[in-house]
Amino acid sequence: MRTVPTLSALASALGLAAAIGCGGGQTTAPPSEHAAPEVRKQNRVTNMHMHFDDITAIQVALVSGNVVAARELAKKFREGFQGEKPQGWGPYIERSVASAEMLEVTDDLHMAARIAGTMAGTCGDCHRDQEINVVEHAAIAPPRNDDRFSDFMIQHRWAADRMWEGLIGPSDEAWRAGALALAGTEITREDIAERLLLTPEIERLLVQIRKDAAAASSVHGADMRQELYGSFLAGCASCHRDMMNQRD
Ligand code: HEC
Ligand code: HEC
Repeated sequence: MRTVPTLSALASALGLAAAIGCGGGQTTAPPSEHAAPEVRKQNRVTNMHMHFDDITAIQVALVSGNVVAARELAKKFREGFQGEKPQGWGPYIERSVASAEMLEVTDDLHMAARIAGTMAGTCGDCHRDQEINVVEHAAIAPPRNDDRFSDFMIQHRWAADRMWEGLIGPSDEAWRAGALALAGTEITREDIAERLLLTPEIERLLVQIRKDAAAASSVHGADMRQELYGSFLAGCASCHRDMMNQRD
């Protein structure tokens, strides 16, 4: 039987240490052998690459249930837009900045997750209007699942990242691949009983996440996708936060 991970082990497994420690460096997991859409990263005239790193650091912090880190990262994200004013971009930048300002002052995990969904949706709205998709597609295949709980989590993470890219791209293909992978992931009591106090609340969360994912796979509107993502992200966040609290 594996032991229950410590708080810091969990935080580092979730990539949180990288997200809050390295000031704009790499925040996402290194590419794995599982082919996933790649976000284009050539240098252009704008700071898109930096925005991507900044906003994804927020997503990573929220997955692990850390609102305090997300708040700090929101400030960095907001400041990243300073001085960036190509013609016609004002409304999008204002929306991004306004979302960040809301995130900077919230203590509520669910609210924070919803704001993050809106923020990613704003990136996607502008890209859509510019008729671009910043997520390049390779074959999209979810990681294999060997029926161990940590494999489920790797799958959850994979799905959450694809849906995130689906919002930002915007990419229908990435969104649907993530949602379908997650909707098909069933975690039962037996999978986690050993290492986790499976409270009714936590059990409810697992069911909720799958429901959100199933709904997400057939939803097309950008607004609905943002909402669902927020709800879904809050599910990951709540469970991870509760587990950390159980261990304090
Ligand atoms: C106001 C419009 C607008 C907004 C808002 C916007 N983008 Fe972009 N984005 C663009 C345009 C135009 C390009 C293509 C030209 C370029 O790279 O500057 C682009 C390209 C990109 C690229 C590819 C960069 C490359 O080097 O090819 C990424 C990644 C990206 N955006 C991420 C984001 C993220 C993340 C956000 C939200 C935090 C965001 N963008 C918000 C307009 C926008
Ligand atoms: C039922 C509670 C619960 C929910 C809901 C949950 N997780 Fe987890 N997560 C855990 C536990 C417990 C661990 C520690 C894993 C272990 O010990 O293998 C974990 C660990 C992780 C890890 C680190 C995995 C590793 O072994 O490196 C990632 C990544 C992760 N979760 C992502 C997610 C994402 C993304 C979601 C939402 C889609 C999510 N989790 C939802 C309980 C949960």
